Order: sequence, then structure tokens, then C-alpha cells
Amino acid sequence: MSKPKTVFFCNDCGYESPKWLGKCPSCSNWNSFVEEKKIAVKKENVAAFSNFSSGSSPKNILEINSEKNPRMNLNDLELNRVLGGGLVKGSLILVGGEPGIGKSTLMLQLAINSSSIKVLYISGEESESQIKLRANRIGIENEHCFLLNETNVQTLISKAESFKPDVLIIDSVQTLFSSHNDSIAGSVSQIRETTSLLMRFAKETGTPIFLIGHVTKEGTIAGPKVLEHMVDVVLHMEGDKNYLFRMLRTLKNRFGNTQELGIYEMKQDGLHIVSNPSKSLVSVSEDSLSGIAVASMMEGVRPLLIEVQALVSTAAYGTPQRSANGFDSKRLNMILAVLEKRCGFKLASKDVFLNIAGGIRVDDPSIDLAVVSAILSSNIDVKINCNYVFAGEVGLTGEIRQVPRMEQRIYEADKLGYSGIVIPDNKSIKDIKTKMIKLIPCSNVMDLSKILFT
Ligand code: TYD
Ligand code: MG
Repeated sequence: MSKPKTVFFCNDCGYESPKWLGKCPSCSNWNSFVEEKKIAVKKENVAAFSNFSSGSSPKNILEINSEKNPRMNLNDLELNRVLGGGLVKGSLILVGGEPGIGKSTLMLQLAINSSSIKVLYISGEESESQIKLRANRIGIENEHCFLLNETNVQTLISKAESFKPDVLIIDSVQTLFSSHNDSIAGSVSQIRETTSLLMRFAKETGTPIFLIGHVTKEGTIAGPKVLEHMVDVVLHMEGDKNYLFRMLRTLKNRFGNTQELGIYEMKQDGLHIVSNPSKSLVSVSEDSLSGIAVASMMEGVRPLLIEVQALVSTAAYGTPQRSANGFDSKRLNMILAVLEKRCGFKLASKDVFLNIAGGIRVDDPSIDLAVVSAILSSNIDVKINCNYVFAGEVGLTGEIRQVPRMEQRIYEADKLGYSGIVIPDNKSIKDIKTKMIKLIPCSNVMDLSKILFT
């Protein structure tokens, strides 16, 4: 018997090569090639694809009728917002995230809670009775939710075609296989093929499809990067498993803005929307100890107050330890260097630990000022006024720099009843009208101690 022919695919961009390569010539990534069986292009496949393009001629954009109500409202406010204001008909949405983070729960919840929407939930991972058990725990409100165990994409599509659901959910894309392809489910070519078939189904019938996707150790969605190019929306679910908060981020959205964030809390009976995250994420009070500061940051277009905790202690070993949870450790080192140089703090002989409460990962540089304040407070063991909030970026010379959307940050803190917000010094800030919060301008880290501790 002759050896089956194999080809190599780049896991990142889907580049195909007859032999293994260390570096992908297309996307320049190293070690991204995986071996797969070569598949002959079958006639029916080609026919299926040529159908798609036949019969369409160029149309004037003014003559194309846009649907009056192209978005479907789901019974989940956060998901509606993350999707850009509801679910667009015919869209293909990829939901990624680490195992056990709550992807299946989120999707099942959508299926059983969105009453009057006919949902078909197709699972290749759990049996119908397992899903029912979970659904019972969450509570079933939708009479039109149907389950199906199926992993063959052709069968799945033909069943969905006759069943005509309003929304199709597939858990997960890695369990699907196409009968025209011999490689194992979850391989690059299978994922590519099954997704393109599903995409065609979504566009032709106008059925929105949610596809759950696994992520690799590096945190990217398993399978070729082309998968992310093919779909309309990429959502990523994240959170620290030791905490209950789960964040749903939009990484790509053809129908809305990519800066949206949904915040949920995982409870006994499923995921619950956190209606006032700024309140839930901060637990600072009069009794709080030193080393805690509240930052007013932006998650996309949404202001959010979070708690920054720092612990500075004498280094027990020669090399001081630096550890940051939820914050970039390189940025922490930079901030420490600035403090050493500009404020004369002997932090080189101190261990510094930094933690963002709630297991949240923050990229917004406006949190710098809160980080500096928490470190300074822990260093001298004097607590910061618990009614103060901070927003500002720290530059290399120790200057406090402007951050965008300052008004929104101030209003959020004002709304929650804080008495002061420390912000970069800027003339335009004086025009901002607040209810009760005092604006405390600070131009560099050298002045910060005076504000904090006098
Ligand atoms: P799951 O949705 O199965 O994760 P994924 O599909 O992303 O792998 O989530 C499983 C986790 O959620 C599991 O650790 C238990 C927890 N969970 C709850 O805490 N409460 C619940 O009501 C449900 C359904 C799950
Ligand atoms: Mg799952």
C-alpha cells in the first residue's frame, strides 16, 4: 500500500507547503507547521463553491435594500452590547476562551433564556442529557430551544436547513468534520473547510451562527488564523478561574465597535450580568490598609473603577522580586525605575507585588497613577484617602500625562460618590462640571506624595 500523501500547513496563516518548514514564508512565524493528509479536491466540493458565485451581477449600492431590522435582540444585555447592539442576521460569530471559562454556559444560557427565538444548539462535546442537566441548573425559559448531537458538518447543515432555526450554536468548531476530508477533526484543513461551509450556510439562509472555538496554550484560537479572518465577529471570554468575574471582549466585529466589554459573574446557576461593575470591583473602605488605590480606567468605551493593590517589603534575597497580576510586569519595572530616579525611593532593595483585584487584566495606561500611589502608600505604610480615585499615565521623566476620555472617567467616579480624583494638570479640565467630586491636578510623581499623605 502506498504511503498516504501529506502536506504541511502553517497553523497561523494556513500557508500550505509540500515539506516541513521551520519558518513560514508567508507570515514569518517559526515552528507553526503541522502535517496533514493531502485531500483530493472532490467534484462535489467544487460544484458547491461555484454555485455560490453564479448568477450574481454587480449592483448599485443605492439600489440594495438594507433590511429594516437586521439585528435580533438577545435576552442578554451584555452580549447584545458586545455584538454592537444585537445579533446581525447571517453573521458568523466565533467565541473563544480557555477550557472551563464558561463558553458553553454562556451559549446555553443564550439558547434557553432568549424566549421566542428558535435556537438549535449542536454539541459535539457533551451529550444531550448532560446539557439538559446544566440547563436545569440555569433555568429554562425558552420553549423553542432544541439540542442535537452531531459532528458531521454536511449532516448538520442539511438538518439545520430543514429545521430552520433563528439562531444556530455549535459547540465546538474543533469537533466538527467534513466527510470530504480525511484528516482528523480539529486539524487545520478540517477547521478551514467546516467553517467555510458554515459561513456559506449563514450567508445564504441569513441564520446567525455562534461557533465555540478552543484556544491554544498561547491563548490564540486553535486552528489557522484564517478562521478569524473568515468569521464576522470574534469574541473572547476571559477571566481568572480563581475569581468569579468573566469578561467577554470583542476582538473583531464587522458590524460594530471592537472596544466593547461585557462583564459577568459565574454563580451556581450560570453567568449573571454585573450591572454595576465599578461598584462590584472595588471594596475599598475606611478600614482598608495601606497599598490600595482606586483607578478610573476605560475598558474600550466604558469607564470602570478598579482596585489596585501593592505590597512593598524588604527584599529577603539579593535580587528583589517583582510580581504583577493583571498588569504588565515590564511596565511595573518601568514605573519602579521612574520612582527610583525621580522620587529617590530605594525600591531596588524592596520586593514589589502588584495585584489588580477581581482577576482583571488591564491594558489601559491610565491606571499608572493608581499603581504609583499604591506603591508609595505601601512603601511608607500610610493609607490613601479611600474616597480618592486616580487616572493618569506616568511618563519616563515622572510627568503625569493626559489620557483620553477624561470626562467620562471623572463622571464615573462622581456618580459613585468619591470625593476627589487625582488627574493630570490640564487647563481644559477646569471646564468640566461635576456634582461633588473635587478635581485634584497633579503634574508629576514628585508632587503626588504631597497630595496623598498631607
Ligand atoms: P463551561 O461553560 O463548561 O466552560 P467551557 O465551555 O468554556 O469549557 O464552564 C464550566 C465551568 O463553569 C465549570 O468549571 C463550572 C462552572 N459553572 C458554574 O460555576 N455554574 C454554573 O451554573 C455552570 C453551568 C457552570
Ligand atoms: Mg465547553
